[in-house]
Amino acid sequence: MTAFPTRTLNTGAEIPAIGLGVWQLSEEEARSTVRFALGTAGYPMIDTAAGYENERGVGRGIAESGRARDDVFIVTKLNNPDHGYDRALRAIDQSLENLQLDAVDLFLIHWPLLDDDRLLDTWRAFERIQADGRAKAIGVSNFEERHLRLLADAGLTTPAVDQVELHPGFPQTSLRRAASEAGIVVTSWSPLGGTSGSGWGPRSKPNTVLTDPVIGAIAKAHGKSPAQVVIRWHLQNGLVVIPKSTSEARIAENIDVFDFELSDVELASISALTEPGRIGADPNTANFGAPA
Ligand code: A2P
Repeated sequence: MTAFPTRTLNTGAEIPAIGLGVWQLSEEEARSTVRFALGTAGYPMIDTAAGYENERGVGRGIAESGRARDDVFIVTKLNNPDHGYDRALRAIDQSLENLQLDAVDLFLIHWPLLDDDRLLDTWRAFERIQADGRAKAIGVSNFEERHLRLLADAGLTTPAVDQVELHPGFPQTSLRRAASEAGIVVTSWSPLGGTSGSGWGPRSKPNTVLTDPVIGAIAKAHGKSPAQVVIRWHLQNGLVVIPKSTSEARIAENIDVFDFELSDVELASISALTEPGRIGADPNTANFGAPA
């Protein structure tokens, strides 16, 4: 099995630097895609979420892949209506049952709340979930710097990971600096610039990252695809990257990125891109399905 680069979590465990994201896949697509990604393409990590409504398919795909449990890193996330201490404790049990696992490698709060007290209660449940061994590491997703400060100011466990929207044209420079200072690993979602018409409603934009001329020219120079160049940009920036695809050819392409390297000049020119900016919802204002 190929040894993929890893990042060290604040638990001491290693998280693979690359994995497969499965947002928008049906249960059946998740089953076959996860089986292919783990079993054939050799991916080391799958990133799902209760809110994707495909954990059962992911679980079947893991089982069918034939991979040993210790050889794969499985991430899932708390669905927004399950915020709160007791609900979060019940939610992880449901996720583990769906995934047919005794523990996940990483359990994330999917989205912060505008209600700080309830958010802290959820995080206290996450501390218990980690202590119980139901999640080997705990982290957050879509947390802004102020949410990270909220946990720190309450004297609670530092999240192992913050998974946020991050791609060329939205490099999250300030958040990355804060996370790095706190020892938090950053994972990039929509790393390729997202899925066109991806369900963000009227704000949904076509993917302009993969058609960007700067990225295209760099891809041509290396004989690689724009997606492979963008994945390299994430990896060489010390991020964890979870490109999503349902195409077997593109799943294989997206992990075939360890035979070339971007120069500092190429990295800087990609980092300097300012379009498309944020394509998903803004955690400062969006309150998805949180309990009243
Ligand atoms: P598909 O599933 O048809 O491959 P992100 O990971 O940023 O959310 O982006 C995912 C989008 O990019 C999906 O629309 C996916 O479509 C597409 N995609 C994934 N890998 C590649 C690739 N190697 N080349 C072109 N498009 C890709």
